[in-house]
Amino acid sequence: MAEATQAARFAMRIFSGIQPSGGLTLGNYLGALKRFVEKQEEGIEAIYCLVDMHAITVWQEPEKLRHATREAAAGFIAAGIDPERSILFNQCQVTAHAELAWIFNCVARMGWMNRMTQFKDKAGKDKEAASLGLYAYPALMAADILAYHATHVPVGEDQRQHLELTRDIAIKFNHDYGVDFFPVTEPLIEGVATRVMSLRDGTKKMSKSDPSDMSRINLTDDADTIAQKFRKARTDPEPLPETTEGLEDRAEARNLVNIYAALAGVDAVQVLAEYGGQGFGVFKPKLADLAVSALSPISAEMGRLMQDPGEIDAILGRGAERAEAIARPIMERCYDIVGMVRSRRTG
Ligand code: TYM
Repeated sequence: MAEATQAARFAMRIFSGIQPSGGLTLGNYLGALKRFVEKQEEGIEAIYCLVDMHAITVWQEPEKLRHATREAAAGFIAAGIDPERSILFNQCQVTAHAELAWIFNCVARMGWMNRMTQFKDKAGKDKEAASLGLYAYPALMAADILAYHATHVPVGEDQRQHLELTRDIAIKFNHDYGVDFFPVTEPLIEGVATRVMSLRDGTKKMSKSDPSDMSRINLTDDADTIAQKFRKARTDPEPLPETTEGLEDRAEARNLVNIYAALAGVDAVQVLAEYGGQGFGVFKPKLADLAVSALSPISAEMGRLMQDPGEIDAILGRGAERAEAIARPIMERCYDIVGMVRSRRTG
C-alpha cells in the first residue's frame, strides 16, 4: 500500500506504552517519556498507556503492580504529560486491547513469534516455564497500537522488532480480509538516547528488571543516590576523547556521554567539545549535577502526586473513557470485517 494513500486515510496519531513492572528508569525517561512530552508540545494527538496487562506476562505482586501503575502515571504527569491534552490511562480499563489481541493471535504466525528476540531474552534458558502471555506479548502490543489506528509510535531501540511485527500484522490483516483498515505504523526511534545502557555494563540495556539497582537511575532516586550511582558507574581509565570516533570501542564512556547529551538537549559532539581530554573524575560529577537538576523536580512532583492516589485513579479513569471512545468503533468495525455476528442488545 502506498504511503501517500495511507497518509491520506489516517490522520497522524501517536500511541505508546510503558510497563508498570517496577519503577521508571532514566532509560524510560530519555528513550520514551521525555520524547512523549515533546510530541505533546508539537500538538500531535497522543495516547499514552500504562500497559498493566503486559506487565503480568511475568509474575507481579498485586499490591506492587497497583502501586507501580499509579507511580508510573505520576511519573508521566510529573514529566510534563498533561492528561487533558494527551490521553493517559492503564490498559486493563479498555477491553479493546484484549479483544483485538485475540484476533491478532489468529493473524500472526508462529514463525513470526519465534523470531522475537525479547521473548528469548526474557524467557531465558527455561522456555517451557515461560507464560503463554509472554510469548503472545507482541500481538497484544500490536493490538494496543492498532486499536486506535495509531500511525506513529515513539519508543526506544529495543522495541523496533515489535513494531516491525505490528506492521506485518496490519499488512496481513488488510491482505487476508481484502481491506485497507489498519494503518502500517511508523516507529519513531529518534535522538541520542534511544538505547541507554546499564551503568555497570555498557553492553547491556539499562532496565528496571536488572537485579542490581546500581545499574540504573530510577526516577524516584534522591540526589545523593544519583550522584553515587554515577560516581560508581563503570568506566575505563582513559580521558574522554575529542571526537565521537574515539568512543567507538568504549561502550561505557559512550553511554555516559550520550546520557549527558540527552539530558542537556545537545549532541555527543557538543559534549566532547566541552569535555574532550578530561577524565571521568571531572565529567561524572558534572553529569550527576545535570541529572539531579533534570530529575529532582520530577521525583518531587511524583512524590506530591502519590499523596493522592484517588486523584491519579480518577485521571486514569477519565483517560480510559476517552481511549474507549476511540477504540470501540474501530473494534466494532473490525468484528464486522472478520465476520462476527453481534446481536446482543445494549443499553
Ligand atoms: P518498556 O516498559 O520496557 O519500556 C518503555 C519505553 O521505554 C523505552 N526504554 C528505553 N529507551 C532507551 N534506553 C533504555 N535503556 C530503555 N529501556 C526502556 C522502551 O523502548 C519503551 O519505549 N513493549 C513495551 C511496552 C508497550 C508498548 C506498546 C510500547 C506495550 N504496548 C505499544 C509502544 C506501543 C515495553 O515493554 O516497554
